[in-house]
Amino acid sequence: MEPEQSLESISISDEELKSLTDAIHQRHGIDFSCYEPKSLKRRVIRSLHIFKLNAVHELWIKILKDRSFIYPFMDEISVGLTAMFRDPVLWKKMRQLLNDHFSAKSSLSIWHAGCSSGEEVYTMGIVLRESNFNKPISARATDISNQAMTIARSGEYHALKMIEYEKNYQAFNPLSTLKKYYTVNNDIAVFDTSLIQHVNFEYHNLITDPFAKKHDIILCRNVMIYFDNNAKLKLFDKFHEALNPGGLFIIGFYDAVLPLVDASKFKVLDMDAKIFQKI
Ligand SMILES: C[S@@+](CC[C@H](N)C(=O)[O-])C[C@H]1O[C@@H](n2cnc3c(N)ncnc32)[C@H](O)[C@@H]1O
Repeated sequence: MEPEQSLESISISDEELKSLTDAIHQRHGIDFSCYEPKSLKRRVIRSLHIFKLNAVHELWIKILKDRSFIYPFMDEISVGLTAMFRDPVLWKKMRQLLNDHFSAKSSLSIWHAGCSSGEEVYTMGIVLRESNFNKPISARATDISNQAMTIARSGEYHALKMIEYEKNYQAFNPLSTLKKYYTVNNDIAVFDTSLIQHVNFEYHNLITDPFAKKHDIILCRNVMIYFDNNAKLKLFDKFHEALNPGGLFIIGFYDAVLPLVDASKFKVLDMDAKIFQKI
């Protein structure tokens, strides 16, 4: 079977998707009911191709019979698209906020929720270093993809990606170069992991796991895009509770949720950079 052919010819009905997500929920406690069905179907079809399965019921059987299969499946189902210095306008603003808004604080607690392969975490590490923010910092970076977080911990990315990342970095700081943070070895850019020495990577499911509290900055960018409005509303409340007073909540450019943000809980600090402040 040709891969392209199979991807195009497979379709999944609502009933099939429901029986699959119910099986995952029952067997592993992972709840997909908040995900947009259209994009979830696309990702399930992609995973059929990756795992060389011909139909949803084969996936259903594999999930029920093979307990450890859920980990590679979750790695495939999560869309890890990310980039260093993605949306440079945010990082310029972040540099300014670290110097103004947080300069009086004695320490800083950051949460990268849905960190994928860590590009955002390294970006923040570079921004902190270039802002000369020298107070104690603790950070958590969480995701449902262990595979992505293994890449994050290693700080190793394909050197070809550096073309885009350098361009983004230049928009943030035209006076320097991203090159000073990595060395290239056999087409792999190996980043200086001291940039993220304050970061703990942990598996955490935003839909089902409890939220830790007392963060000063929470970034949850391009993750909620996959959730329905009901789930987004619940998450905003939970993120609000997880922040210190005056703390910042940063979402992605396409999370586009202004009508959903409760104006009694968050004030818009910067609409272009999608930064909200806990009231
Ligand atoms: C598009 S990436 C975003 C990465 C980064 N935040 C950025 O904007 O560059 C989305 C990430 O969300 C993660 N994700 C999806 N559903 C999640 C959930 N329920 N809990 C935690 N992370 C989730 C995926 O595994 C993926 O790594």
